[in-house]
Amino acid sequence: MNQDEYLKQKAEEYRKKHQEQVKNDPYYPQYHIASPVGLLNDPNGWIQWNGTYHLFFQWMPFDTAHGAKFWGHVRSENLVDWQLEAPALTPSSWYDKDGCYSGSAIVHEGKLYLFYTGNVKNDEVREAYQCLATSTDGQVFHKQGVQIEVPDGYTAHFRDPKVWKEGTKWYMVIGAQTDQEKGSVVWYESEDLNDWTFRGELSSGFGYMWECPDYFQLDGKDILLFSPQGLSASGIDYQNTYQSGYVIGEWKDDFTHGPFVELDRGFDFYAPQTTKDEHGRRLLFGWMGMADDNEPHHPTISNQWIHQLTIPRELVREGDRLYQKPVPELKELRETKEEHTFYDNWNGPIPRVSEWYFEVSKEKDIHMSIFRYATMEYNASEKSIRFTRPRLDNGEIEERIGMLNEPLHSLHCYLDHSSIELFVNGGALTFSARMFPDPNEETFEVKGSGTLSIWSLRKSV
Ligand code: FRU
Repeated sequence: MNQDEYLKQKAEEYRKKHQEQVKNDPYYPQYHIASPVGLLNDPNGWIQWNGTYHLFFQWMPFDTAHGAKFWGHVRSENLVDWQLEAPALTPSSWYDKDGCYSGSAIVHEGKLYLFYTGNVKNDEVREAYQCLATSTDGQVFHKQGVQIEVPDGYTAHFRDPKVWKEGTKWYMVIGAQTDQEKGSVVWYESEDLNDWTFRGELSSGFGYMWECPDYFQLDGKDILLFSPQGLSASGIDYQNTYQSGYVIGEWKDDFTHGPFVELDRGFDFYAPQTTKDEHGRRLLFGWMGMADDNEPHHPTISNQWIHQLTIPRELVREGDRLYQKPVPELKELRETKEEHTFYDNWNGPIPRVSEWYFEVSKEKDIHMSIFRYATMEYNASEKSIRFTRPRLDNGEIEERIGMLNEPLHSLHCYLDHSSIELFVNGGALTFSARMFPDPNEETFEVKGSGTLSIWSLRKSV
């Protein structure tokens, strides 16, 4: 048995051994992709191929901490029901032995190509290789080895290739750190997906490292998405340990663009990746987590798993802002519906696995308490949304704030045992967070005036 087969077998044994414990955890999600066992982080290789959606994820099967990552793999026909596949990549080769790090997928001549970063650490000295694996059936992946080495001027923090085609050429962006420890995104081009030519920096300037770049065009504009590290908190911005956001502009000779905008205002959102599906939609998954001090305080680690992804979201451009919208396919999850119209307040139990939509009927302050744990407040005079939850380490209340540029008209929310995704005003702002209220707590309290629709949702993973 070679090392790849050995690692796959070990991961499967480990998954089977713990699957009851993991799935019976009251915090394990019912319709989000979560770690089958161990630790999950970034979405990778996100693509639709011959009708089927393939999504890969950074996966450490053997531990609830970071380590030598695999690429886990799930597939779906409808963006709702997901099936777990065998891992696509294992850290079995000299050039990826300490992790098959993040990357992307493209389809070329009937084959699926996965570009990823091989992470190597010998005596704490890091090496990074941009690697390729291909598949003809979307199930078994064959490594093709190292394609690109770190160019002069950059440290070994050089990773997360995202590849796409424009005209007859292939392009790649990579997250990088310069020798001066400045964050940047560099780009390459290729005629044949074989020989890659280094073309320099697409953008750079703040933080010490930019991870997980993604480049795409949306509605006539050029957009670069990335996850910078090393930004200091500033007012209501950059409150998380690491950030994740985008710049919008025009890429001619240079890429001229506007300011960096955070994509999500919640506590847990990082390393998103997009793809254009066969309907022409720009679809995004994010990691609902962060590599930081909170991780050891997640109560799920005692049940051998940690972290989940977001729901799939469509990105839509409105001027210089990206809106995020839950994909309409998720309506298939709906089971029962109730509707309440009220003028001052409403209290009631709502299912822990549910979706609700609140349409505001009168412009005034709103307060919501979710499972006696998280709160959402709208301040009508400031047009601000404030979201709170207790800190995972010491229980003190922490907050995140987002500003609207028009009055609040709607709140749309997805709840799944230990996660909340809030879409404000049709996705102008989103708040994504993990939350760990008492598993039996279903109390929902609203002060405000409007119509609240609540759906219980079925299980789909
Ligand atoms: C982002 C990241 C990537 C890296 C991967 C390793 O969360 O640090 O830059 O490829 O995770 O798991």
